[in-house]
This record gives sequence, structure tokens and C-alpha cells, in this order.
Amino acid sequence: MDKKSIVAGNWKMNKTQLEAKEFIKNLAPLIQSARASVYISPSFTALQESILAANNTNIIIGAQNMHDETDGAFTGEISGGMLKALGVEFVILGHSERRHVFHEDSSFINRKLIRALKDGLQPILCIGETQKEREEKKTEIVLEEQFLKGIQNLSKKDASNIIIAYEPVWAIGTGKTATSEIAEHVHSFIRKLVVKHLDKEISKNMHILYGGSVKPQNVEELMQQENIDGVLVGGASLDYKVFAQIINKA
Ligand code: 13P
Repeated sequence: MDKKSIVAGNWKMNKTQLEAKEFIKNLAPLIQSARASVYISPSFTALQESILAANNTNIIIGAQNMHDETDGAFTGEISGGMLKALGVEFVILGHSERRHVFHEDSSFINRKLIRALKDGLQPILCIGETQKEREEKKTEIVLEEQFLKGIQNLSKKDASNIIIAYEPVWAIGTGKTATSEIAEHVHSFIRKLVVKHLDKEISKNMHILYGGSVKPQNVEELMQQENIDGVLVGGASLDYKVFAQIINKA
């Protein structure tokens, strides 16, 4: 793997702004010589403190979601422009919790992706099958559909700026990690999808991250796989010592 790996932490609905600040202050000195790029996505309310705390460190701060419109009557929503104005650099879109708990469909996710790119935010597009879909041998169909609908109407140039995260729904927060063989098999399939629907050059440069119960104990084996370019970490990114171990092993 010749490109720099990415270790991204998705804090989900955890940490106040003060907790976020403390975390980043504690983490930064532990990862100074890390080879991987480090991304963290706190809650909206902790973004500003996190961006300030990450100043002069190698940590990049992003959001966990955004709306697809620029402004207007969307009570409770946050626009990409608002995030960009804060200094946010990336945004997670299509996370399985957004798809399954909040019923976001692929077309909404696609509109958000287009908006994020217009707003100068780097999208991490999450795709992944459920346990039932895997058992029914629909993994590849589901992934191709989520990927294709996700990148619909994007120019190749825009599509080359996205990061893909493969997060099998059955492995999220369950302690059940996909084995490195299963993950590699799917990542190699996703890489081929990128060649098929975009092109070879884009596929070579695109980061495809694995997410789902990543821990210090399994990160090395996952990272050794040819098509795994990084990890998206939930639970294990909430403790700075544990997250530092993951980063330093990636
Ligand atoms: P866990 O690492 O807690 O399984 O969560 C993965 C995830 O959803 C990251 O976005």
C-alpha cells in the first residue's frame, strides 16, 4: 500500500465540548510520529472546541452528518456551509445509523454528498450490508447499489475526492469484526466497482476504510490487507489511549 493510511474516529453521540478538548489535548502528544492521517468526528456541539484543540496537531476534524440544502426551514439541521465556516474539513455521510435508524435513503445521501463537495468538505461515504443481506448473499448487490446511488451525478473529478468506508452493519458496535479475509474480499470488490464506474486511476488513489469493531488487537491484521487503506473506528475511538494505540499500529 503506497498511499498514506487514514485512521478516523467516529464519536457518534458522545463527548461534550470540554471532554472533546481534553481528549485531543491528551491524544496529540501520543501520536506525533504516527504514519497514518488522523481524522476525528465529534458531535456538532464539540466541533468548535475540537478544531481549536487540534490546531498545530496532525488531527483533522470533521462532522458526522449535514443537510443537503444550503439554508432554510429545516428545523434541527446543519448545513455544509455552516460546517465549513467553523473550519470543519470532512463529513461522514450515509453511516448505517443514518440509513437504518434515521431512514435516510440513497438519494438524500447522494444530494448531501454533492453539496458537501460544493462546500469544500471531503465526504466519507459509508456503505455496508446487514446481517440478513449477507445471509441472503446480497452483499455485492447492496454495496454496488449504495455506491452507485451515492456517487450519482458526480463528475469523475469530484468522485475522486471522496473516501469510501465499508462498514458491515452486523459488525458495528457488536464486537463482531469481519475477519481480515472477509474485509479484504469486500474491499477488493469495492475497488473493482470504482474501476468499473469511475476509472482505474481513481480506484488506485481512493481510500477505502474498514469500520466495525476495530480495536488495537485487530487493526494490524486489517491494515496488512492490500485493499484496506485505513479504518473508521467507533467505540474504540472514545478512549484516547486506546485510540492512540490503533493510530500507532496503522
Ligand atoms: P464500532 O467501532 O463501535 O463498531 O463502530 C463502527 C462505526 O460505526 C464507525 O463509524
